[in-house]
Amino acid sequence: MSAQDTSMFDDLLQEKRAFDPPEEFTRNAVVRNDECYKRAQEDYEGYWEDEAKELKWFSPWKKVLDWSPPHARWFVDGKINISFNCLDRHLNTPRRNKAAIIWEGEDGEVKTITYLQLFREVCKFSNCLKKLGVRKGDIVAIYMPMLVESAIAMLACARIGAIHNVVFGGFSPDSLAERINDSKAKVVITADGGWRRGRVLGLKHNTDRAVEHCPSVEHVINVKRIPGESYLLNMEDGRDHWYHQLMYGTSDSCPAEELDSEDISFILYTSGTTGKPKGIVHSTGGYAVGAYSTNKYVFDLKEEDIFWCTADVGWITGHSYVVYGPLLCGATILMYEGAPDFPEKDRFWNMIAHHKVSVFYTAPTAIRAFMKWGDEYPAGHDLSSLRLLGSVGEPINPEAWIWYYTNIGKGRCPVVDTWWQTETGSIMISALPGVTTLKPGFAGPAMPGIDATVLDEKGNEVVQGSGLLAIRKPWPSMIRTIWGDDERYVQTYFSKWDNRTYFPGDGAKRDAAGNFMILGRVDDVLNVAGHRIGTMEIESALVDHPAVAEAAVVGKAHEIKGQAIVAFVSLKGSSKADIALLSELKEHVVEKIGALARPEDILITPDLPKTRSGKIMRRLLRDIAEGRALSDVTTLADPDVVADLRAEYEENYGA
Ligand code: WT7
Repeated sequence: MSAQDTSMFDDLLQEKRAFDPPEEFTRNAVVRNDECYKRAQEDYEGYWEDEAKELKWFSPWKKVLDWSPPHARWFVDGKINISFNCLDRHLNTPRRNKAAIIWEGEDGEVKTITYLQLFREVCKFSNCLKKLGVRKGDIVAIYMPMLVESAIAMLACARIGAIHNVVFGGFSPDSLAERINDSKAKVVITADGGWRRGRVLGLKHNTDRAVEHCPSVEHVINVKRIPGESYLLNMEDGRDHWYHQLMYGTSDSCPAEELDSEDISFILYTSGTTGKPKGIVHSTGGYAVGAYSTNKYVFDLKEEDIFWCTADVGWITGHSYVVYGPLLCGATILMYEGAPDFPEKDRFWNMIAHHKVSVFYTAPTAIRAFMKWGDEYPAGHDLSSLRLLGSVGEPINPEAWIWYYTNIGKGRCPVVDTWWQTETGSIMISALPGVTTLKPGFAGPAMPGIDATVLDEKGNEVVQGSGLLAIRKPWPSMIRTIWGDDERYVQTYFSKWDNRTYFPGDGAKRDAAGNFMILGRVDDVLNVAGHRIGTMEIESALVDHPAVAEAAVVGKAHEIKGQAIVAFVSLKGSSKADIALLSELKEHVVEKIGALARPEDILITPDLPKTRSGKIMRRLLRDIAEGRALSDVTTLADPDVVADLRAEYEENYGA
């Protein structure tokens, strides 16, 4: 959806419903009034400095912020280790024997690991990495299902100063290879497989296919998850190692490396407007402060909470709110391996009731699927342990918001709609649940210490109406650069207006109280079921098929996924358009990128609508895919192309 298409949001702006925090919630909340906003406004650096002081630093910073636009350094010369702060810091407190992670496999297996146990496993695995020659600054790719070992792997890298590069397990071998090669990873950590809807996702097998094309990889570490799967695996002598064999007999003493605040903690690839994914680089100290502070305030974490963020560790949400944020807070997290509808569509509610989850954080696409599956699924479970709900990843429509609030929160639990990005590292816009009056459709105000606003193309502030979201001051957990491409960093994020103002790529509106409504991406990036994917990536995958001459990909509104992928494809001379080819093309995209990129519709067409200068007019294609009246066609080289396309699309997909 583009910011111009705000018509569907007009209803939203009329949205009158508002929900004050329940009094009892506010009375017990971590944040009970708006003083933190004032404090951050009056002394912005002082505010962040106070947040940083709650973590343990080996040596203090000399300066809070060094801002030479567009590059920021936070807590300059401070020495810190995020793994130490997630683990060691809690060991001399009553948290020592508290559950750090409660893990549930899709097959129903449950494991609980305390802070002390997690600490020991992380130390041991850190030593395993060292044995394989991993040193500070080396890149380690992690391609895993949702296992306790995934968190251990991340924390072990952080402990020794190795830079992890987690790649979502749903990505194809090609996508994995691309991310390994761009980062020059030395080691890959994977698993024989993971359960997803009762089937095994063969991650080691995919890794083998990827690593064939990755000269930088020296070792592959394989976690055993699936009984009986091992005999199917190829374990290459010298290169491949079983996790449990490496761990056996390894020392559990491994002091955390004293890292510089600005040392890179991890790289995480995300989609942009070109065909090449960007390796988003995050710092150590600033990232830790952002993940810690937002977790504490937005999720109102208390000692007794059981926090469940349903994101996969392959995304930034899994980094900041499955692993780092909650552990920095000393919370108990629930981690789940599999699908929400396996073996039944009440799996999540069953787990919430069983584990007594108190804070639950998921995505609108999941909420819309739950709505569609039916109210009877949550109604059959005792959800009274819940006290706070969260949403992330895409705009949540008021209907889904109200359903979530009513059917899951039973009208008792505030719903925080959190806006942020891979690049921002932690939540930027959100209600504070004990303070903010909630308005469905609005993500809420900027977090304390975050200077968000709405600007027009020229950089003028937009008070009423829609414009572009902008962040005017640096913040601790911000992206530091794009791996190997600082030029692209500057171009993408700090050149829309000036080199001090961050451009996130989203459209936004603001109400009189300063609440932001996020209108979606204004660039060629799609958000499909909460997953970010570039149109160019999908186009490159399509033109990679021998039959395809040209491809243009757009998003269309989708009831459950938010957006769905629609591809318009023209074929090379002799190729024949038939049903078989359509499914072949879809499979080809899945093969190249992963199932998350599978096109919903493909339309074969002799021509794509182009401007006289040869640029494909995506705006028109979006109109066709969404069945809207056609927007301006005057700049088009051949207007008939559009009319033909539209007739054909409607015939095939009934838009
Ligand atoms: C894009 C970032 C941040 C974690 C997951 C996605 C969209 C994210 C919201 C929200 C409206 C949202 C934006 C943003 N987005 N949260 N609460 N309301 N839109 O991270 O993959 O980096 O995607 O997701 O368009 O730019 P990501």
